[in-house]
Amino acid sequence: MFASHARICQPHWGCVSAPLGWAILGTANIGRAAVIPAIHGSSNGEVIAIASRDVDRAREFATANGIANAHGTYEALLDDDRIDAVYIPLPNSLHREWTIRLAQAGKHVLCEKPLGLTAAECDEMAAAGQAAGVVCMEAFMYRFHPRIDRVLDLITKGVVGELRSIYSAFTFKLTKPDNIRWVPELGGGALMDVGCYCVNVSRTMVGSEPIEVQAVATWTDRGVDEQLAGTLRFDGGITAQIDCSLSMERREVFHVAGADGHLEIANAFLPGTGDVTIEEYHGRAESVRHPVAGADEYRLMVEHFGDCVLTGAPVRYPLAEAAGNMRTIESLYRSARNGGAPEMVNNR
Ligand SMILES: NC(=O)c1ccc[n+]([C@@H]2O[C@H](COP(=O)([O-])OP(=O)(O)OC[C@H]3O[C@@H](n4cnc5c(N)ncnc54)[C@H](OP(=O)(O)O)[C@@H]3O)[C@@H](O)[C@H]2O)c1
Repeated sequence: MFASHARICQPHWGCVSAPLGWAILGTANIGRAAVIPAIHGSSNGEVIAIASRDVDRAREFATANGIANAHGTYEALLDDDRIDAVYIPLPNSLHREWTIRLAQAGKHVLCEKPLGLTAAECDEMAAAGQAAGVVCMEAFMYRFHPRIDRVLDLITKGVVGELRSIYSAFTFKLTKPDNIRWVPELGGGALMDVGCYCVNVSRTMVGSEPIEVQAVATWTDRGVDEQLAGTLRFDGGITAQIDCSLSMERREVFHVAGADGHLEIANAFLPGTGDVTIEEYHGRAESVRHPVAGADEYRLMVEHFGDCVLTGAPVRYPLAEAAGNMRTIESLYRSARNGGAPEMVNNR
């Protein structure tokens, strides 16, 4: 914890406050429920401003969430010199514009998943961040939970043998008809909202990009995917199956299977802060339970981001990684719109 407010300067991007001064763009649920409390509880940051399209909403949100300053426009953040970093939990269709505008104004940006609507958008955002010399990262919080590194460690140690297949599911029932996830113009859809985790964890576990994908989807009248199932084919014959939906009972799980055993990870993306486990199975004969101490993945994410801004260290997940995720998502959508036909992933 920083004893008092100081300015920390380093060669990469000049001076920032310590603790880092954060602003939040929009009065989103996820900000209120998870990320603002995580920054409030973090060792290296504090939330000093909220911006909303509506000044009354901004003021009410500021009071309810312990934030000192409320802005009635998003633009106001661009000129607020007290702000070092901005967290963007806007609808997906606004991620690109606001990441670029904030980066160009010299703000470090933590932007919600999925980073953009397309890989090309992600590339533009990465280029803007680089040109402005600021840190930009996609807010995929699940991979900051220590259990993910533990799973990767078990794979590397060979506990499942030669890696063969991944299965992942993220589903929930979205009951509100006016939610942003149902709106095509805002970047809605099951794959964009929760399937993006399945794609991300599949790529992370395999450690490479898929070559080819196939998908089938159920579409709403407005044309967003309410449900989507897909298969990803990686080099060496490794496959990943993904299952995502906005209209099924809550389910979050992934399995990592090899020739000699498999791992099962329950409550995979939102494990809460309590202790968790990794279940290791070898046929019917043997099972091992690996306990992992509880952690706040949101807090670990914002602290990592803050450390990188304060020290100049590189972020663990650069925006090129986010572009990779979007290339797979775009290919899955092409396949789903084309009756499930195989689609190559446009990897570079
Ligand atoms: N990492 C996670 O755990 C997690 C969880 C949930 C969501 N997310 C991501 O976070 C983002 C926000 O999701 P959410 O469910 O929290 O959103 P939400 O509650 O619907 O809030 C979105 C905010 O964006 C602003 N906004 C600007 N233009 C808008 C428009 N045309 N329609 C609606 N809102 C608009 C609004 O703030 P003002 O009106 O105050 O300007 C609104 O409060 C999405 O990218 C989503 O994928 C991440």
